[in-house]
Amino acid sequence: MLSGFFLIENTRDIRQHFAQEQRAAVMLKKSVQTILNGLSVAVFVIDAKQIIRFGNIAAQERFGIDAVEDDLLSVIPAKECQKAAERVLKNDETTVSLELTLQDVVPTTFRMIVTRLDAELTGKKARAIISLEDISHIREAEQMRIDFVANVSHELRSPLTSLSGFIETLQGAAKDDPIARERFLDLMLNDAQRMSRLIGDLLSLSKLQASERVAPQETVNLDTILRRVVASLEPISNTEETSIVLFVSDNLPMVVGDADELTQVFQNLIENGIKYSKRGTEVIITAEADPSHDNQLRISVRDHGEGIDPQHIPRLTERFYRIDKGRSRDMGGTGLGLAIVKHILIRHRAYLHIDSNLGLGSIFSVFLPVAETE
Ligand SMILES: Nc1ncnc2c1ncn2[C@@H]1O[C@H](COP(=O)(O)OP(=O)(O)OP(=O)(O)O)[C@@H](O)[C@H]1O
Ligand SMILES: [Mg+2]
Repeated sequence: MLSGFFLIENTRDIRQHFAQEQRAAVMLKKSVQTILNGLSVAVFVIDAKQIIRFGNIAAQERFGIDAVEDDLLSVIPAKECQKAAERVLKNDETTVSLELTLQDVVPTTFRMIVTRLDAELTGKKARAIISLEDISHIREAEQMRIDFVANVSHELRSPLTSLSGFIETLQGAAKDDPIARERFLDLMLNDAQRMSRLIGDLLSLSKLQASERVAPQETVNLDTILRRVVASLEPISNTEETSIVLFVSDNLPMVVGDADELTQVFQNLIENGIKYSKRGTEVIITAEADPSHDNQLRISVRDHGEGIDPQHIPRLTERFYRIDKGRSRDMGGTGLGLAIVKHILIRHRAYLHIDSNLGLGSIFSVFLPVAETE
């Protein structure tokens, strides 16, 4: 009797113990899943046959909810991924990390890490965990930096090469030719000014990027700024035989802004309007309250120039982007003007809109928030 009683007690203990262990395992699984769901990187757990057993929320958002229970290769169509998982599942390696580019509509680069899961955790089943971090923006930034350095070097080298050429000619063949000397010195001055303008623009850009998060504090009158810019550009408009027409609405509200930076914005837009227009045409500047948004001003610069092919419009504010490099350079341009405009406007919580018709002309519109009145 006594021994039978003990047997019953022991069986109950064992059952209770098992139930407790099972509850603990379920709790652990839930906790791990909650932690994985809180991560921004995509995480999959695969079994020995490379079937996806779990995908965290980031993985389901990126690769689709149906990814779970699917074959790894059909979700991530890359042989390298399959091979890495195979090596880890066969225990050839504990962890494999690699960089993977998936050719989606837009190619995406991932840093992928495959790690074998401890058998203790998986009930002796072979399982691997895969994390996929989207690093496309890092690779793009690296490429932009490389392109930028290459562009700066090229833009600085061209006037330098030209200057060295003139110096050599002045030391040799043109040594005693006063007419050639005069002409070459003019060209050399032009090259030196070009380099100085380029360095000035680059410094402007890096200063602007550093201060982008701090919005300007002063209140400025755009009417005054626009009139000053138009007056300063008169010599260029006379040479180009272009007339500048300025319309400013009565009682134009003040804006919060930096007067020097806004001057730079309109100087570049109006100068572009003049430079890229046909001779004898008008560049029309209009400053008024934006009819479609309260508390916003619209300042548009309209030219009757060659217009811009739509494919170029989204790229115009990139540094050094010029539709016709040779032509812009001949006109003394560095291709940094609109990049500077973009950064100034970001700082002003403002934006630029470009409208253009090939052969007819373009309208560059700036939308600026109005200063609050007390
Ligand atoms: N109003 C316009 N009409 C036609 N093309 C334009 C106009 N404004 C700009 N562009 C094109 O956009 C390019 C970039 O303009 P951006 O002002 O950045 O550089 P840039 O005028 O060439 O040189 P910079 O302003 O540095 O002296 C120009 O080279 C030109 O091809
Ligand atoms: Mg310009």
